Amino acid sequence: MAKHHLDSNYLDPNYEPVVNHSGNLPFREILAARMQRRTVMKGSVGAALASVMGLGLAGCGSDSNGGGTTTGNVSSTQLGFKAVPTSTANEVVVPEGYSAQAFLPWGTPITGSYPAYKPDGTNTGAEQEQQMGMHHDGVHFFPIDLKAGGNSSSEGLLVMNHEYINQDALHDTVAEAATNGGVRPEDQVRKEIAAHGVSVVHIKRDTEGTWDIVFGSPFNRRITGNTEMDIRGPARGYSKLVTKYSPDATETRGTLNNCAMGPTPWGTYLAAEENWHGYFANSDANQPREQLRHGVGSSSRYDWELADSGADQYIRFNVTPGTGTATDDYRNEANTYGYMVEIDPFTPESKPQKRTALGRFGHEGVIFAPVTEGEPVVCYSGDDSRFEYIYKFVSSKPYYAATAGGYLLDEGTLYVARFNDDGTGDWLPLDLNDADFKAKVDAAVGTTVSDIVFTGFENQADVLVNTRLAADIAGATPMDRPEWGAVDPNSGQVYFTLTNNSQRTEAQVNAANPNAENRTGHIIRWSENGDDFTATGFDWDIFVFAGEQGTETVVDDEVIVSLTDDNIFNSPDGLWFDYNGRLWIQTDGSDAAPYQNNMMLAANPETREIKRFFVGPVGCEVTGVTSTPDVKTMFVNIQHPDGNWPDASQSRPRDATVIVTRDDGDVVGA
Ligand code: FEO
Ligand code: CA
Ligand code: CA
Repeated sequence: MAKHHLDSNYLDPNYEPVVNHSGNLPFREILAARMQRRTVMKGSVGAALASVMGLGLAGCGSDSNGGGTTTGNVSSTQLGFKAVPTSTANEVVVPEGYSAQAFLPWGTPITGSYPAYKPDGTNTGAEQEQQMGMHHDGVHFFPIDLKAGGNSSSEGLLVMNHEYINQDALHDTVAEAATNGGVRPEDQVRKEIAAHGVSVVHIKRDTEGTWDIVFGSPFNRRITGNTEMDIRGPARGYSKLVTKYSPDATETRGTLNNCAMGPTPWGTYLAAEENWHGYFANSDANQPREQLRHGVGSSSRYDWELADSGADQYIRFNVTPGTGTATDDYRNEANTYGYMVEIDPFTPESKPQKRTALGRFGHEGVIFAPVTEGEPVVCYSGDDSRFEYIYKFVSSKPYYAATAGGYLLDEGTLYVARFNDDGTGDWLPLDLNDADFKAKVDAAVGTTVSDIVFTGFENQADVLVNTRLAADIAGATPMDRPEWGAVDPNSGQVYFTLTNNSQRTEAQVNAANPNAENRTGHIIRWSENGDDFTATGFDWDIFVFAGEQGTETVVDDEVIVSLTDDNIFNSPDGLWFDYNGRLWIQTDGSDAAPYQNNMMLAANPETREIKRFFVGPVGCEVTGVTSTPDVKTMFVNIQHPDGNWPDASQSRPRDATVIVTRDDGDVVGA
């Protein structure tokens, strides 16, 4: 098999080096034990693992922040379907009364000359640039009439990320550098880069209820690992982003490893750059901290820098410094990755914008809080690596619907979360203008932070380019791999999945991450103080601990959730509140017994009732979910299936979107 599959939690548990050696790993001290995870196995009660929480948190959503109260919409969040059992079938399983249909598989032509998909892997790089990319991930449905204030549920732009690739499925035969004279054929590299990125697909439902691509639509578009992009925000023009391609540090090419995403309040799409470090190679013994703190290696995941043509757009993945200056080579290319990238799907000619004010790390995705006219824009983003952090951005400028745009993301304060053991939390500003942060930075100079001798920050751009290091110094809480976030439209509570962290030791547990060797993960949530998303403090609790049958989430000795055959799951990853307030949980974990194939569950945030709604085919992770505004058509992405799903007559698997509808045409999940 070609180079290792990466990203899926269990396929290669070592793909993500632990690069946080900051010492922000508090010892387990006095845990008030008001909230616990208990695993009841074979009649015995497992060791109680303590955590603290604040039960009965008032919902923090005010009417101006999206309406509703914590108790006002219970009926709309009830789960009206019959849970589906776990499955090992190589097919999608949905509840009785529902249908599922694969849509937009990898290789589907969507633009240009619409080159047909060739099932033998012989499509060229140029053809792949006009077809759906591989490894579908975060996805959002934009109603076609959104800009006119509409909410069409029959026509829209489906925008999705293509996180990474399966080289074996992509090509007829993979030509690896090791067996190909130390180089890779240029067109294979071109095709691999083109299979990454983002797809914008104009889709429409016909009168029979069937969805299809609108062929020839000007909105249909591919953004790839080679598309020209602007650098925006504080790091624009900063010396550490200078490259041969952009001597003034204002541009770069491509976005890669786009995991989750976030729709903005002004109708654009932010794609996250997650495990971008693996695409670069630096053979220099003395790596800069901007690479060390992320785990850039001496060779890259796919060896793109070894393309046999030696063309500039490929050799840039070799970030080893040359003998000249930064304008002569690509030593800084990796510093142009690790951001949230804004794409305007309604403006096909628009250039994607890397928003550096939101920080540079392994962005899983982003979730915006509901906006209020005249108030700042607030969004949250998790850094999915073991012992990394959760961040919040608060814009400097206020939001006004009439003039809102990406500029709001270029100025503001980036905070990192500290989860205190008493159930409170603090947002710590990573801002040199903040006296407390500045004092911590000054005190850290000359010390070793995360195995790096800290020499200080040149300016705020340097802070942002080194977000992880800044968060280490601020004293953030290292989490069990923060993945997607979601904001409850009814209560305003913010939820985040913490997918797992098998490497956390007993000495490293904290109240918010209370399980050593956390193999199954949990979901945390918080309410901002005073119902104000810009607050610098919050109250948190754990919504549910994932695990096998009998895993209990216990609050004040009361069992709030006890998992059963209907809802066992592990390694929560994708997370989304639908427009009615049901919470959808997707998994990317062990597909061994008792869990079997990865799945999607629905949860009622009011009652914490959880039911399995969907099970994916063999080998996949279920990642990415969105719906039409009426929540009657749901789009669910299947990533890296094995075998030959979804077409049993073919020899290779194809990542695809699954359209889920109710046979009676009513609301999904209700
Ligand atoms: Fe790309 Fe963290 O999953
Ligand atoms: Ca993910
Ligand atoms: Ca994952």
